Amino acid sequence: MNNNIAIDGPAGAGKSTIAKRAAKELGYIYVDTGSMYRAMALYFVRDGISGDDEQAVSEACEYIDISIEYVDGEQVVLLNGENVNSLIRTEQIGKMTSDTSKYKTVRKKLLDIQRGLAVRNNVIMDGRDIGTCVLPDAKTKIYLTASAEKRAERRYKELSEKGVSCEIDQIKKDIIARDEQDMNRAIAPLRQAEDAVYLDTSDMTIDEVVKEIIKIHLR
Ligand code: DC
Repeated sequence: MNNNIAIDGPAGAGKSTIAKRAAKELGYIYVDTGSMYRAMALYFVRDGISGDDEQAVSEACEYIDISIEYVDGEQVVLLNGENVNSLIRTEQIGKMTSDTSKYKTVRKKLLDIQRGLAVRNNVIMDGRDIGTCVLPDAKTKIYLTASAEKRAERRYKELSEKGVSCEIDQIKKDIIARDEQDMNRAIAPLRQAEDAVYLDTSDMTIDEVVKEIIKIHLR
């Protein structure tokens, strides 16, 4: 029986924090698909490939192997066997990821891996195209969003707490630009699946959102 949960939404909506918590409560596996695209982007950056060069990006895909494993319940993404978790959360990689995840070869590479994980386990998977494309038969689909202001504020707080100096206006601009690109690409754009529940988390706490998702899933 398919018990999978698909969560999609724009950057900074809180998908990973919420999905991780809900997965723990339900005893499911959390699959963060964004980190897989980010690991591929890291390879392109390291190889000096331009995000605009679809041919070079597509050719490089042949040399990339992405897998995930779980260490103490945390998802670890492996790029050709190397744990790259600590290297993929920068703005530079975020931008490169948005630039290159629009290409067919990049998406094809990850689709089978993502579907394979959902066949073997009960998963909560988050990303941009999970409900619409990767797991169209997921039992529960959530479209998680919040206002651009709220999302920028949360990201600013997170970075400031890590000691990273940043400007909230710039963060907001970057978030909006990334959403634009992710929503308007030709292949697997970010959009709400017809059968997804829309959740605006602007004025909700993490606990409230997790509870709501679990309630929707178990009803
Ligand atoms: O969720 P995130 O910020 O880690 O995602 C980074 C980028 O990866 C995002 O801008 C678009 C892309 N992405 C995608 O195209 N499809 C997914 N399922 C997940 C992420």
